Order: sequence, then C-alpha cells, then structure tokens
Amino acid sequence: MPAFTATAPGKIILFGEHAVVYGQPAIAVPLFSSRARASIHPQIHGNQGEIWIDAPQLSLSASLYDLVQDHPIRVALQLAAGKNNISEAPACKVLIDSEIPVSSGLGSSAAVSTALIRAFSGFLGTRLTDQEISDLVYEVEKIEHGTPSGIDNTVVAFQHPVYYKKGSPIDFLPIPKPFKLVIADCGIAGETRLAVQGVRDRLEADPVRTQKIVTEIGEISQSARELILDGKPEDLGELMDHNHTLLQELGVSISKLDDLVQAAREAGALGAKLSGGGLGGHIIALVNEREEEILQKLLERGAIRAETTSI
Ligand code: PMV
Repeated sequence: MPAFTATAPGKIILFGEHAVVYGQPAIAVPLFSSRARASIHPQIHGNQGEIWIDAPQLSLSASLYDLVQDHPIRVALQLAAGKNNISEAPACKVLIDSEIPVSSGLGSSAAVSTALIRAFSGFLGTRLTDQEISDLVYEVEKIEHGTPSGIDNTVVAFQHPVYYKKGSPIDFLPIPKPFKLVIADCGIAGETRLAVQGVRDRLEADPVRTQKIVTEIGEISQSARELILDGKPEDLGELMDHNHTLLQELGVSISKLDDLVQAAREAGALGAKLSGGGLGGHIIALVNEREEEILQKLLERGAIRAETTSI
C-alpha cells in the first residue's frame, strides 16, 4: 500500500457570511496561496487499526483512539474509512500540515478535513468525488461550527469560486476579470460558533430588524454576482463597505476589524469588510494600484499579517 498525499486550499468569503446560514446567497473563493496537506504513510510493522497522527500546527501528536470520540480529525478519518466500508484501516501514520491560520475565517478546518478525507480515502483505495468529499467534510464541520451553511466545505472541496445558496444546486461562479484583494489578520482569533449563535439570538430577540439585515446581505451577494459576471469587479468595493456595515449591525464585528477596514479604505482600498465568522479573524480589501500602501498601512495599524491575493 503506497503513501498517499492530498492538499486543499483555504477559502475567502467575499460576500454573504452569516446571511448564508439563513438561506441567503453568499460568494466564496478558494485561497490557493494557503493550503492544508495530509499524507498517510503505511506502517508495515504496525498492527491493523493502529493510526498515529502528527499535526504540528494543531499541537497534536497522538494515536487515533486517544482522541475524544468527536475530535474532528478522528471523525474525518472514521467517515473516510466508513465510506470505504473499512472498519479497521491498515496501520499508518497521518501527517497533517497546514499553512492556513486556525480560527481566522480562512477555512482552516474545512481544508484540513478535505485534505485528510481525500488522502485517507486514496490510501484505502478509493477516489471519492468532490461532492462525496464535500458531504463528509460538512459532517465534520457540524462538530466544529454547530449549524454550518455548507459554504466552506463546498468551496474548499470543489476548489472553485461558488455562488452558494443552502439547499440549491451548486452554482460555480466564473470570474471573467480577475481582481486583487488584500487579506489581513487582525491578530484576534475568530469565533465562528459564538458569532453564529449571536446572530441567532438577535433573530429571536428582534426578528423583523434582523431579518431585514439578513435579506439585505443576500441582495448584496446577488448584486456582487452580477458585477463579477459582467467583468466589473472594480465596482465591488461599495458592496463590500455596505456588507461590512450590515455585519456590524449583526454584531459580528469587533473594533480591531473595524479599525483595519477603516485603515484599508484610508489607504486607498476600493472597499473592505470582515470575512468569515467574525469576532476576530481576517478582513479583506479590494485594491487597485495602491496595494503596497494598503499593505503597509494595515501592518502599521496592527494587522499581524497581510498579503495580496489574486481572485
Ligand atoms: O468558519 P468561517 O469563519 O469561515 O465562517 C463561516 C461562515 C458563516 O457564514 C459565518 C457560517 C456558515 O456556516 O456559513
């Protein structure tokens, strides 16, 4: 049985986070510059079922059965084995390596699960389709996030920009005219689960106003889709600004994210917003020729990392 390796990209949500949980459309794109990698190495002298896992970025070095039952890595491996109709895998060592910062809104958990399920399935002898992998990753995401919309597993497993609406067939989004974003890490870990719960509480406490915000975010995603398809990505900035304001109203931004959004705009970004679950994590800013100034300004204003990426 040969060793098997698979990788998966991170992701950026361009528009529609949180509203997507309530059936509104959202747009997400893969982030190819940051990847998770999983490799499975057979241990020919080991006993059937012995699986050792090393994941330095997750500070994890343990046997599979030492992990709690609902540990996402344990669940991902067991789901992949189940899909292969295998109850005990051959002895192996699993190495997980990820360049995607955790809890940052860049899809680290979906990418690790995708790489892991793809590699482990390959090791066990089956090549799963992207849809099968996406469905399994969704099951793992449920453990991490409670009630995921499904956008993260879809964009990461298919490695393609999507216009995503829960329950609708996948709508891959072509990008006829590429554009550039700066992504900056605010240095505070994102809290997707808490943020999603906060929005749910708000919907219960103030349904009319909150539903209006959610619907408006969905309309922004629709308009953004049109602009992207029409080859006018430079006009997305205003929609990003508006989307950020609505996310603030949903209570999922924090002052550090607001500061960075403001700094990006002051330095010449065409628009900026938080990206992902919020309460920390990353902002994205649409940039033109002033990208160096924007990167510099974001670092001065406290971003712990900032980079440009082409979409
Ligand atoms: O996990 P994150 O930070 O990439 O955020 C996921 C996006 C949300 O819309 C907030 C949740 C979801 O399941 O869609």
